[in-house]
Amino acid sequence: MTARPYVIDEMISAKSIAARIEELCKEIQREFHDTNKLVVVGLLRGSFVFIADLVRELDLPIEVDFLEASSYGDGMESTREVRILKDLRGAIEGRDVLVVEDIVDTGHTLNHVTHLLENRRPARLKSIALLDKPSRREVDFKADWTGFEIPDEFVVGYGIDFAQRNRNLPFIGKVRFTDVG
Ligand code: IMP
Repeated sequence: MTARPYVIDEMISAKSIAARIEELCKEIQREFHDTNKLVVVGLLRGSFVFIADLVRELDLPIEVDFLEASSYGDGMESTREVRILKDLRGAIEGRDVLVVEDIVDTGHTLNHVTHLLENRRPARLKSIALLDKPSRREVDFKADWTGFEIPDEFVVGYGIDFAQRNRNLPFIGKVRFTDVG
């Protein structure tokens, strides 16, 4: 892939993300108020910032585990074929589980991962995505909680990358190429 010049326009501020996480955590706490331990599963790598902020706001007994599924590689298009690159360390049978994703785009990744985890017979399995691009959906999937619905734009920041770059931006921004008119 040839490197094209681009700039990043802020779309969702760090402050808005923090406020939305507070709201989401209240809802998650209501759902899991009776849990004896919630396994919070972060999908690597894009969810690492979101899960860090989410668990610090969650007033519940939790464990954290991670799973890595392949998706975009270094491009801007989903590969659609989801492969598990790194599985969970712990068993989830009979446990309460919350899967944490950065973006639901075509829906293939979370759809595949939630089916895989359902097969391990957790007590309860819920999912949360910081961002949702409903106009891009190819499979019928909706996360139980969504931070923000966004239009069909390629976004970076707050853990989300473009070819491994820009994950460390504190806000969500959209990529705008500067070599087009
Ligand atoms: P899906 O399987 O098409 O729903 O894709 C989900 C994954 O694609 C996300 O976890 C991201 O890693 C990646 N992705 C989707 N949209 C974007 C984007 O706008 N920027 C960066 N990565 C994205």
